[in-house]
Amino acid sequence: MSERTLILVKPDGVERGLVGDVLARIERKGYRLDRLELVHPTDAQLAAHYEEHEGKPFYQPLVDFMKSGPVVAVIASGEGVIRGFRVLAGTTDPTEAAPGTVRGDLARDWGEKVQKNIVHGSDSVESAEREIGIWFPESA
Ligand code: TYD
Ligand code: MG
Repeated sequence: MSERTLILVKPDGVERGLVGDVLARIERKGYRLDRLELVHPTDAQLAAHYEEHEGKPFYQPLVDFMKSGPVVAVIASGEGVIRGFRVLAGTTDPTEAAPGTVRGDLARDWGEKVQKNIVHGSDSVESAEREIGIWFPESA
């Protein structure tokens, strides 16, 4: 069975008109888009999605940011897609992210408490399956 991952284009990516650019990078790399939906995240979805970060100083700014506008939720699949998309996305801090990556090419530090870094990608098979259940319960 081919691996799958959960990707979000965050509100900054949608607001800045970067959805097509992000999807094009996923497709050009050779991964498949299995599900795609514009979603207005609920409090419950965000609490579940970011439960590992609850209590950290950036948690509330992160949740507030993720509530600030619609996101595009994606299930992508292919061999190695979990790690492969994380490499395409670049490191968490956009200032440090390598050129050629989504965050390195398209994101920057805006002087805010939360790092606005365009995309989320699952970090393990367990996270991917858990996160798919949050955003696409019918595909879990
Ligand atoms: P994390 O899961 O560590 O990063 P990634 O998205 O690369 O898996 O953190 C989740 C999000 O929280 C991250 O994308 C941006 C935000 N964040 C901050 O705003 N400040 C921080 O110091 C960290 C670690 C994360
Ligand atoms: Mg993470």
